[in-house]
Amino acid sequence: MVEETVLRPADFIAPLFVIDGQGAPEPVASMPGVSRLNISDLVKECRALHKLGVSAVALFPKLDAKLKDAEGTRALEEDGLILRAIRAVKKAVPSLVIMTDIALDPYTTHGHDGVLNAAGDEVENDRTVGILCRMAVLHARAGVDLVAPSDMMDGRVGAIRAALDEAGHQATGIMAYSAKFNSAYYGPFRDAVGSAQAAGTRLLSKATYQLDPANRRESLIEATLDVAEGADIVMVKPAGPYLDIIREVRDAVQTPLAAYQVSGEYAQIHAAAKLGWLDYARCRNESLLAIKRAGADLILTYFAKEMARELRK
Ligand code: PBG
Repeated sequence: MVEETVLRPADFIAPLFVIDGQGAPEPVASMPGVSRLNISDLVKECRALHKLGVSAVALFPKLDAKLKDAEGTRALEEDGLILRAIRAVKKAVPSLVIMTDIALDPYTTHGHDGVLNAAGDEVENDRTVGILCRMAVLHARAGVDLVAPSDMMDGRVGAIRAALDEAGHQATGIMAYSAKFNSAYYGPFRDAVGSAQAAGTRLLSKATYQLDPANRRESLIEATLDVAEGADIVMVKPAGPYLDIIREVRDAVQTPLAAYQVSGEYAQIHAAAKLGWLDYARCRNESLLAIKRAGADLILTYFAKEMARELRK
C-alpha cells in the first residue's frame, strides 16, 4: 500500500551485441548470460524482448579485429553490420524502439571513442564530432529511432542534431550519454566489443573525455548542456555507484532520464552470487529498484529480459 517505487518491464532498455555471419551465439565470459548474436538471432531476441514488454534495445556491433583501423573507417561503411542490424530489427519488430551507440570504439584499433591527433596521445574532439555526425545520419537513414552519442566529445549533441535535421531526419531522437564517467566498471563491456586495449600497446584511458568520478557539479554542466543542444533523453552512467548523480540530474533537467547499469555492475552481482556470497535475485532486484528510486525513468540493463519475465509472473 505504501510502496513508492515500482519496476515495470517498460522501464528497461536491453543492450545487445551483434556480430556478422551465421555463427552460433558467442558467450561473453565476464557477463554470464550475455552473448554476441548474429543478425537473425538478434531479431529473435528482439521479438522476445518486445513480447515481454521491454521498451527498447541498444545495439552494439562487435567487429573482427582485422576490420578495425586507427581512423575507425568502418563506422562510415555504407552497408556496415550495425546498419544491417537496424534494418532487420526494424522490419521484424517495427514498434520496438531501437537505439545505437554513436562512438568510434568498436571500429578503432586503439579502442578510443574518437580519432587521435598526429602525436597519437589525445583524441581530437572536433574531427571526431564531424565523423560522429556522418555516422548518426547513416544510422537514421537505416531506421534507428534514437542515436545515442556515448563518446563524450564536447558539442556533439548540437552538431548531431543539426546534421540529422539537415539530412531530413527531424524525427530521429537523441539519447545523450551526458554524465558518462571514466569508470572501471566498463571492463566486461570492452571484452564484449573487443575495445579492451590498444592492440598490444598501452592501457586504454578515456580520462581526457569521460567525466572524473570525483565530479558532481561537472556532471550537471554536461547534462544541462546536452539538453540545451537538443538531447531528447539524457543519461547517467554507470548507475549503481552514481545514484547521487542520477538524483541531481533528475532534479536539474525536464527530459526523461536514463541510467545505464553497466557491465561491471552486472558482473559483480553474478560473481558474488556464484561464490554463494549474495542472493542473486534479491540483489538484482534491489540494484534496479534503487536506480529507479534515485530518479531514473529508464534503465539500460543486461538484466532486462529476465527482469521483464519476472515482473510479468
Ligand atoms: C563506448 C561504450 C562503453 C559502454 C557503452 N558504450 C564503454 C567505454 O566507454 O569504454 C559501456 C557499457 C557497459 O560497460 O556495459 N562508447
